[in-house]
Amino acid sequence: MSPAHVVGWGKYVPERVLSNDDLSEMVDTSDEWIRTRTGIAERRVAEDGESTASMATRAAWRALRAAGVTPAQVDLIIVATATPDHAIPATACIVQDALGASNAAAFDLSAGCTGFVYALGVAADMVAARDGAGKKATAVVIGAETLSRFVDWTDRSTCVLFGDGAGAVVLQANGSPGGVLSTFLGADGSGGDLLYVPAGGSEEPASHRTVSQRLHYVRMRGREVFRFAVRAMPDAAQQVLEQAGLTPDDVDLLVPHQANQRILEAAGRALNLPPEKMYSNLERYGNTSAASIPIALCEAVEEGRISRDDVVVCVGFGAGLTWGATALRWSVPLPTAPPTAWGKARYRVWRGYASVRSLIRRLVRWLLSRSVKE
Ligand code: COA
Repeated sequence: MSPAHVVGWGKYVPERVLSNDDLSEMVDTSDEWIRTRTGIAERRVAEDGESTASMATRAAWRALRAAGVTPAQVDLIIVATATPDHAIPATACIVQDALGASNAAAFDLSAGCTGFVYALGVAADMVAARDGAGKKATAVVIGAETLSRFVDWTDRSTCVLFGDGAGAVVLQANGSPGGVLSTFLGADGSGGDLLYVPAGGSEEPASHRTVSQRLHYVRMRGREVFRFAVRAMPDAAQQVLEQAGLTPDDVDLLVPHQANQRILEAAGRALNLPPEKMYSNLERYGNTSAASIPIALCEAVEEGRISRDDVVVCVGFGAGLTWGATALRWSVPLPTAPPTAWGKARYRVWRGYASVRSLIRRLVRWLLSRSVKE
Protein backbone atom coordinates (compact mmCIF):
# COMPACT_ATOMS: atom_id res chain seq x y z
CA MET A 1 0.00 0.00 0.00
CA SER A 2 1.29 3.43 -0.82
CA PRO A 3 -0.33 6.62 0.50
CA ALA A 4 -2.75 8.75 -1.52
CA HIS A 5 -1.62 12.23 -2.55
CA VAL A 6 -3.65 15.27 -3.57
CA VAL A 7 -2.39 15.76 -7.13
CA GLY A 8 -5.10 18.09 -8.48
CA TRP A 9 -7.59 20.63 -7.13
CA GLY A 10 -10.38 22.73 -8.59
CA LYS A 11 -13.36 24.78 -7.51
CA TYR A 12 -16.48 26.30 -8.99
CA VAL A 13 -18.68 28.94 -7.42
CA PRO A 14 -21.76 30.44 -9.10
CA GLU A 15 -21.47 33.95 -10.56
CA ARG A 16 -24.42 35.35 -8.62
CA VAL A 17 -23.41 37.19 -5.43
CA LEU A 18 -25.90 37.77 -2.62
CA SER A 19 -24.61 40.39 -0.19
CA ASN A 20 -25.70 40.98 3.40
CA ASP A 21 -27.39 44.17 2.22
CA ASP A 22 -29.37 42.15 -0.34
CA LEU A 23 -30.47 39.84 2.48
CA SER A 24 -31.53 42.75 4.67
CA GLU A 25 -34.12 43.54 2.00
CA MET A 26 -35.49 40.00 2.23
CA VAL A 27 -35.55 39.37 6.02
CA ASP A 28 -35.20 41.40 9.21
CA THR A 29 -31.40 41.42 9.44
CA SER A 30 -28.45 43.74 8.82
CA ASP A 31 -24.94 43.66 7.40
CA GLU A 32 -23.63 44.59 10.85
CA TRP A 33 -25.42 41.68 12.61
CA ILE A 34 -24.29 39.10 10.06
CA ARG A 35 -20.68 40.31 9.98
CA THR A 36 -20.23 40.52 13.73
CA ARG A 37 -22.01 37.21 14.55
CA THR A 38 -20.63 35.14 11.66
CA GLY A 39 -17.88 36.94 9.69
CA ILE A 40 -19.85 36.52 6.43
CA ALA A 41 -20.14 39.44 3.99
CA GLU A 42 -21.59 37.69 0.95
CA ARG A 43 -22.33 34.27 -0.51
CA ARG A 44 -22.87 32.74 -3.96
CA VAL A 45 -26.24 31.48 -5.14
CA ALA A 46 -26.75 29.02 -8.00
CA GLU A 47 -28.46 30.34 -11.12
CA ASP A 48 -31.48 28.59 -12.62
CA GLY A 49 -30.16 25.55 -14.47
CA GLU A 50 -27.23 25.09 -12.09
CA SER A 51 -27.32 22.20 -9.64
CA THR A 52 -25.08 20.25 -7.30
CA ALA A 53 -24.11 17.90 -10.16
CA SER A 54 -23.33 20.69 -12.64
CA MET A 55 -21.16 22.58 -10.13
CA ALA A 56 -19.47 19.34 -9.01
CA THR A 57 -18.67 18.53 -12.64
CA ARG A 58 -17.09 21.93 -13.28
CA ALA A 59 -14.95 21.66 -10.16
CA ALA A 60 -13.95 18.11 -11.13
CA TRP A 61 -12.86 19.15 -14.66
CA ARG A 62 -10.61 21.82 -13.15
CA ALA A 63 -9.12 19.35 -10.66
CA LEU A 64 -8.47 16.80 -13.44
CA ARG A 65 -6.81 19.47 -15.54
CA ALA A 66 -4.59 20.58 -12.64
CA ALA A 67 -3.59 16.94 -12.10
CA GLY A 68 -3.06 16.22 -15.82
CA VAL A 69 -5.31 13.19 -15.38
CA THR A 70 -7.83 12.09 -18.03
CA PRO A 71 -11.37 10.95 -17.10
CA ALA A 72 -10.58 7.43 -18.34
CA GLN A 73 -7.87 7.13 -15.68
CA VAL A 74 -10.32 7.72 -12.83
CA ASP A 75 -11.25 4.64 -10.76
CA LEU A 76 -13.55 6.27 -8.21
CA ILE A 77 -15.75 9.36 -7.89
CA ILE A 78 -17.24 10.35 -4.55
CA VAL A 79 -19.55 13.34 -4.24
CA ALA A 80 -19.98 14.49 -0.65
CA THR A 81 -23.25 16.39 -0.48
CA ALA A 82 -26.29 17.03 1.66
CA THR A 83 -28.10 18.61 -1.28
CA PRO A 84 -28.00 16.01 -4.08
CA ASP A 85 -29.78 16.63 -7.40
CA HIS A 86 -32.14 13.71 -6.64
CA ALA A 87 -32.74 11.07 -3.97
CA ILE A 88 -32.14 8.60 -6.84
CA PRO A 89 -29.72 8.38 -8.68
CA ALA A 90 -26.56 9.42 -6.91
CA THR A 91 -25.20 12.81 -7.98
CA ALA A 92 -21.81 11.10 -8.40
CA CYS A 93 -23.27 9.00 -11.25
CA ILE A 94 -24.44 12.16 -13.04
CA VAL A 95 -20.92 13.55 -12.62
CA GLN A 96 -19.37 10.27 -13.84
CA ASP A 97 -21.44 10.49 -17.03
CA ALA A 98 -20.68 14.19 -17.54
CA LEU A 99 -16.95 13.49 -17.21
CA GLY A 100 -17.07 10.41 -19.43
CA ALA A 101 -15.21 8.58 -16.66
CA SER A 102 -15.82 5.19 -18.22
CA ASN A 103 -13.79 3.16 -15.69
CA ALA A 104 -15.00 4.80 -12.49
CA ALA A 105 -17.21 3.59 -9.66
CA ALA A 106 -19.35 6.44 -8.35
CA PHE A 107 -21.33 7.10 -5.18
CA ASP A 108 -22.54 9.90 -2.94
CA LEU A 109 -21.56 10.32 0.67
CA SER A 110 -23.77 12.12 3.17
CA ALA A 111 -22.12 13.35 6.36
CA GLY A 112 -23.35 16.95 6.49
CA CYS A 113 -20.66 19.60 6.41
CA THR A 114 -18.07 16.95 7.37
CA GLY A 115 -18.87 15.12 4.12
CA PHE A 116 -15.70 16.10 2.29
CA VAL A 117 -13.44 14.97 5.15
CA TYR A 118 -15.32 11.65 5.31
CA ALA A 119 -15.04 11.23 1.52
CA LEU A 120 -11.35 12.08 1.55
CA GLY A 121 -10.74 9.42 4.22
CA VAL A 122 -12.72 6.74 2.35
CA ALA A 123 -11.10 7.57 -1.00
CA ALA A 124 -7.57 7.74 0.45
CA ASP A 125 -7.97 4.23 1.90
CA MET A 126 -9.43 2.85 -1.35
CA VAL A 127 -6.71 4.46 -3.47
CA ALA A 128 -3.96 3.18 -1.18
CA ALA A 129 -5.48 -0.33 -1.09
CA ARG A 130 -5.98 -0.56 -4.88
CA ASP A 131 -2.59 0.80 -5.77
CA GLY A 132 -0.16 -1.67 -7.29
CA ALA A 133 0.76 -3.75 -10.34
CA GLY A 134 2.15 -0.67 -12.03
CA LYS A 135 -1.26 1.07 -12.02
CA LYS A 136 -1.87 4.39 -10.31
CA ALA A 137 -5.22 4.18 -8.55
CA THR A 138 -7.03 7.50 -8.95
CA ALA A 139 -10.04 9.03 -7.20
CA VAL A 140 -11.90 12.28 -7.66
CA VAL A 141 -13.31 13.52 -4.36
CA ILE A 142 -15.84 16.32 -4.61
CA GLY A 143 -17.75 18.41 -2.07
CA ALA A 144 -20.70 20.17 -3.72
CA GLU A 145 -23.81 21.86 -2.41
CA THR A 146 -26.81 23.87 -3.58
CA LEU A 147 -28.00 24.93 -0.15
CA SER A 148 -29.91 27.89 -1.58
CA ARG A 149 -32.60 25.39 -2.63
CA PHE A 150 -32.91 23.96 0.90
CA VAL A 151 -32.85 27.07 3.08
CA ASP A 152 -35.99 28.90 4.07
CA TRP A 153 -35.50 32.40 2.67
CA THR A 154 -37.98 33.72 5.27
CA ASP A 155 -35.94 32.35 8.23
CA ARG A 156 -33.26 34.87 9.15
CA SER A 157 -31.58 32.51 11.63
CA THR A 158 -30.48 30.16 8.83
CA CYS A 159 -30.70 31.85 5.42
CA VAL A 160 -27.90 34.31 6.17
CA LEU A 161 -25.40 31.52 6.82
CA PHE A 162 -25.30 29.34 3.74
CA GLY A 163 -24.02 29.52 0.15
CA ASP A 164 -23.57 27.35 -2.95
CA GLY A 165 -20.45 25.98 -4.64
CA ALA A 166 -18.22 22.99 -5.29
CA GLY A 167 -14.62 21.95 -4.74
CA ALA A 168 -12.76 18.85 -5.89
CA VAL A 169 -9.44 17.09 -5.47
CA VAL A 170 -7.80 14.29 -7.42
CA LEU A 171 -6.18 11.66 -5.21
CA GLN A 172 -3.52 9.35 -6.55
CA ALA A 173 -1.08 6.90 -4.99
CA ASN A 174 2.28 7.29 -6.68
CA GLY A 175 4.57 5.27 -4.47
CA SER A 176 6.16 8.28 -2.76
CA PRO A 177 5.88 9.06 0.97
CA GLY A 178 3.72 11.88 2.38
CA GLY A 179 0.19 12.50 1.13
CA VAL A 180 -2.70 11.59 3.41
CA LEU A 181 -1.06 10.76 6.75
CA SER A 182 -4.10 10.07 8.92
CA THR A 183 -7.87 10.46 9.14
CA PHE A 184 -10.14 10.82 12.14
CA LEU A 185 -13.93 10.56 11.79
CA GLY A 186 -16.58 10.94 14.50
CA ALA A 187 -20.38 10.76 14.72
CA ASP A 188 -23.08 11.30 17.34
CA GLY A 189 -26.57 10.71 15.97
CA SER A 190 -28.17 11.76 19.26
CA GLY A 191 -27.66 15.32 18.02
CA GLY A 192 -29.34 14.74 14.66
CA ASP A 193 -32.20 17.11 15.44
CA LEU A 194 -29.89 20.09 15.98
CA LEU A 195 -29.57 20.54 12.22
CA TYR A 196 -31.95 18.75 9.89
CA VAL A 197 -34.58 18.87 7.15
CA PRO A 198 -37.78 17.52 8.74
CA ALA A 199 -39.63 16.24 5.66
CA GLY A 200 -39.15 14.99 2.12
CA GLY A 201 -37.48 11.71 3.11
CA SER A 202 -38.91 8.23 3.76
CA GLU A 203 -39.99 9.04 7.31
CA GLU A 204 -42.19 11.94 6.20
CA PRO A 205 -42.59 12.03 2.42
CA ALA A 206 -43.58 15.19 0.60
CA SER A 207 -47.26 16.11 0.91
CA HIS A 208 -49.36 19.27 0.71
CA ARG A 209 -49.07 19.53 4.50
CA THR A 210 -45.28 19.26 4.60
CA VAL A 211 -44.93 21.82 1.85
CA SER A 212 -47.37 24.30 3.40
CA GLN A 213 -45.60 23.94 6.77
CA ARG A 214 -42.23 24.57 5.12
CA LEU A 215 -40.85 21.27 6.39
CA HIS A 216 -38.53 20.79 3.41
CA TYR A 217 -36.18 23.48 4.60
CA VAL A 218 -33.18 23.36 6.91
CA ARG A 219 -33.98 23.73 10.62
CA MET A 220 -31.17 24.48 13.04
CA ARG A 221 -30.62 25.11 16.73
CA GLY A 222 -27.72 27.48 16.07
CA ARG A 223 -26.47 28.09 19.59
CA GLU A 224 -26.21 24.36 20.36
CA VAL A 225 -24.45 23.67 17.05
CA PHE A 226 -22.02 26.47 17.91
CA ARG A 227 -21.17 24.90 21.30
CA PHE A 228 -20.68 21.49 19.67
CA ALA A 229 -18.43 22.98 16.96
CA VAL A 230 -16.01 24.76 19.27
CA ARG A 231 -15.33 21.43 21.03
CA ALA A 232 -15.42 19.14 17.98
CA MET A 233 -13.04 21.02 15.67
CA PRO A 234 -9.98 21.16 17.96
CA ASP A 235 -10.71 17.64 19.22
CA ALA A 236 -10.71 16.20 15.68
CA ALA A 237 -7.56 18.13 14.74
CA GLN A 238 -5.74 16.91 17.88
CA GLN A 239 -6.77 13.29 17.23
CA VAL A 240 -5.63 13.29 13.62
CA LEU A 241 -2.30 14.90 14.52
CA GLU A 242 -1.68 12.37 17.29
CA GLN A 243 -2.38 9.51 14.86
CA ALA A 244 0.18 10.99 12.48
CA GLY A 245 2.74 11.45 15.28
CA LEU A 246 2.55 15.25 14.97
CA THR A 247 1.64 18.18 17.22
CA PRO A 248 -0.13 21.50 16.46
CA ASP A 249 3.36 23.08 16.20
CA ASP A 250 3.97 20.96 13.08
CA VAL A 251 0.91 22.35 11.29
CA ASP A 252 1.66 24.77 8.44
CA LEU A 253 -1.96 25.44 7.51
CA LEU A 254 -5.28 24.48 9.06
CA VAL A 255 -8.11 24.41 6.51
CA PRO A 256 -11.26 24.35 8.64
CA HIS A 257 -14.90 24.03 7.62
CA GLN A 258 -16.02 27.60 6.96
CA ALA A 259 -19.08 28.00 9.20
CA ASN A 260 -18.52 30.98 11.46
CA GLN A 261 -15.44 33.15 12.03
CA ARG A 262 -15.98 32.97 15.80
CA ILE A 263 -15.86 29.14 15.60
CA LEU A 264 -12.65 29.29 13.54
CA GLU A 265 -11.04 31.66 16.04
CA ALA A 266 -12.07 29.48 18.99
CA ALA A 267 -10.57 26.42 17.26
CA GLY A 268 -7.37 28.35 16.52
CA ARG A 269 -7.07 29.41 20.19
CA ALA A 270 -7.71 25.86 21.44
CA LEU A 271 -4.95 24.53 19.17
CA ASN A 272 -2.66 27.46 19.90
CA LEU A 273 -2.39 28.26 16.20
CA PRO A 274 -1.68 31.84 15.10
CA PRO A 275 -4.25 33.39 12.69
CA GLU A 276 -1.82 33.15 9.75
CA LYS A 277 -1.95 29.35 10.04
CA MET A 278 -5.77 29.29 9.79
CA TYR A 279 -7.29 29.61 6.34
CA SER A 280 -10.55 31.55 6.03
CA ASN A 281 -12.59 32.61 3.00
CA LEU A 282 -15.89 32.57 4.86
CA GLU A 283 -16.37 36.28 4.28
CA ARG A 284 -16.89 35.70 0.52
CA TYR A 285 -18.80 32.41 0.41
CA GLY A 286 -20.54 31.80 3.76
CA ASN A 287 -21.02 28.18 4.78
CA THR A 288 -21.03 25.96 1.67
CA SER A 289 -21.29 22.80 3.80
CA ALA A 290 -19.39 19.85 2.25
CA ALA A 291 -17.97 22.19 -0.43
CA SER A 292 -16.35 24.59 2.03
CA ILE A 293 -13.13 22.68 2.77
CA PRO A 294 -12.26 21.79 -0.86
CA ILE A 295 -13.04 25.35 -2.01
CA ALA A 296 -10.84 26.69 0.79
CA LEU A 297 -8.05 24.19 0.02
CA CYS A 298 -8.13 25.17 -3.63
CA GLU A 299 -7.96 28.89 -2.84
CA ALA A 300 -5.16 28.33 -0.32
CA VAL A 301 -3.12 26.71 -3.12
CA GLU A 302 -4.00 29.48 -5.59
CA GLU A 303 -2.96 32.14 -3.06
CA GLY A 304 0.40 30.46 -2.41
CA ARG A 305 -0.50 29.62 1.20
CA ILE A 306 0.65 26.00 0.76
CA SER A 307 4.20 24.96 -0.14
CA ARG A 308 5.66 21.58 -0.95
CA ASP A 309 6.19 19.40 2.18
CA ASP A 310 3.79 21.49 4.26
CA VAL A 311 1.60 19.73 6.82
CA VAL A 312 -2.01 20.66 6.06
CA VAL A 313 -4.90 19.70 8.32
CA CYS A 314 -8.49 19.78 7.03
CA VAL A 315 -11.04 19.74 9.83
CA GLY A 316 -14.82 19.86 9.79
CA PHE A 317 -18.03 19.39 11.74
CA GLY A 318 -21.67 19.31 10.78
CA ALA A 319 -25.09 17.75 10.72
CA GLY A 320 -25.36 14.20 11.96
CA LEU A 321 -23.75 15.20 14.21
CA THR A 322 -20.44 14.44 12.53
CA TRP A 323 -16.91 15.73 12.82
CA GLY A 324 -13.54 14.74 11.43
CA ALA A 325 -10.10 15.70 10.22
CA THR A 326 -7.44 14.69 7.71
CA ALA A 327 -3.72 15.37 8.10
CA LEU A 328 -1.68 15.43 4.93
CA ARG A 329 1.80 16.28 3.83
CA TRP A 330 1.58 18.24 0.60
CA SER A 331 4.11 16.36 -1.47
CA VAL A 332 3.39 17.33 -5.07
CA PRO A 333 4.97 20.26 -6.90
CA LEU A 334 2.77 23.35 -6.99
CA PRO A 335 1.95 25.03 -10.32
CA THR A 336 4.31 27.83 -11.30
CA ALA A 337 2.33 28.98 -14.34
CA PRO A 338 -1.36 29.09 -15.33
CA PRO A 339 -2.62 26.30 -17.61
CA THR A 340 -1.51 26.69 -21.22
CA ALA A 341 -3.94 27.15 -24.13
CA TRP A 342 -3.04 23.62 -25.28
CA GLY A 343 -3.74 22.23 -21.81
CA LYS A 344 -7.17 23.90 -21.77
CA ALA A 345 -7.97 22.77 -25.34
CA ARG A 346 -7.17 19.17 -24.45
CA TYR A 347 -9.80 19.19 -21.71
CA ARG A 348 -12.33 20.90 -24.00
CA VAL A 349 -11.92 17.91 -26.32
CA TRP A 350 -12.48 15.53 -23.39
CA ARG A 351 -15.62 17.45 -22.44
CA GLY A 352 -16.93 17.15 -26.01
CA TYR A 353 -16.08 13.45 -26.04
CA ALA A 354 -17.94 12.94 -22.73
CA SER A 355 -21.14 14.53 -24.14
CA VAL A 356 -20.99 12.46 -27.32
CA ARG A 357 -20.26 9.29 -25.34
CA SER A 358 -23.29 9.89 -23.13
CA LEU A 359 -25.55 10.44 -26.16
CA ILE A 360 -24.29 7.30 -27.90
CA ARG A 361 -24.83 5.20 -24.76
CA ARG A 362 -28.42 6.47 -24.47
CA LEU A 363 -29.01 5.75 -28.16
CA VAL A 364 -27.57 2.23 -27.94
CA ARG A 365 -29.71 1.53 -24.86
CA TRP A 366 -32.81 2.74 -26.71
CA LEU A 367 -32.00 0.59 -29.76
CA LEU A 368 -31.36 -2.48 -27.60
CA SER A 369 -34.60 -1.99 -25.70
CA ARG A 370 -36.51 -1.90 -29.03
CA SER A 371 -34.87 -5.10 -30.22
CA VAL A 372 -35.77 -7.10 -27.08
CA LYS A 373 -39.02 -9.05 -27.48
CA GLU A 374 -41.01 -9.35 -24.24
N1 COA B 1 -30.29 38.99 11.91
C1 COA B 1 -30.60 39.66 13.03
N2 COA B 1 -30.89 39.05 14.18
C2 COA B 1 -30.88 37.70 14.20
C3 COA B 1 -30.57 36.94 13.07
C4 COA B 1 -30.26 37.63 11.88
N3 COA B 1 -29.92 37.01 10.75
N4 COA B 1 -30.62 35.62 13.40
C5 COA B 1 -30.96 35.56 14.70
N5 COA B 1 -31.12 36.83 15.18
C6 COA B 1 -31.48 37.24 16.53
C7 COA B 1 -32.17 36.16 17.31
O1 COA B 1 -33.57 36.16 17.03
C8 COA B 1 -31.87 36.55 18.73
O2 COA B 1 -32.74 37.57 19.10
P1 COA B 1 -33.35 37.61 20.60
O3 COA B 1 -32.16 37.75 21.50
O4 COA B 1 -34.23 38.79 20.56
O5 COA B 1 -34.06 36.29 20.76
C9 COA B 1 -30.48 37.18 18.63
O6 COA B 1 -30.28 37.49 17.25
C10 COA B 1 -29.35 36.27 19.10
O7 COA B 1 -29.56 35.01 18.52
P2 COA B 1 -28.57 33.82 18.79
O8 COA B 1 -29.07 32.59 18.11
O9 COA B 1 -28.25 33.73 20.25
O10 COA B 1 -27.27 34.36 18.05
P3 COA B 1 -25.83 33.77 18.08
O11 COA B 1 -24.87 34.78 18.58
O12 COA B 1 -25.79 32.39 18.69
O13 COA B 1 -25.54 33.60 16.53
C11 COA B 1 -25.55 31.89 14.84
C12 COA B 1 -26.40 32.76 15.78
C13 COA B 1 -26.48 31.01 14.04
C14 COA B 1 -24.77 32.81 13.92
C15 COA B 1 -24.56 31.04 15.69
O14 COA B 1 -25.26 30.42 16.73
C16 COA B 1 -23.86 30.01 14.88
O15 COA B 1 -23.07 30.32 14.02
N6 COA B 1 -24.10 28.73 15.19
C17 COA B 1 -23.48 27.65 14.44
C18 COA B 1 -24.25 27.45 13.17
C19 COA B 1 -23.51 26.59 12.20
O16 COA B 1 -22.31 26.65 12.09
N7 COA B 1 -24.26 25.80 11.45
C20 COA B 1 -23.74 25.00 10.41
C21 COA B 1 -23.14 23.77 10.95
S1 COA B 1 -22.27 22.94 9.71
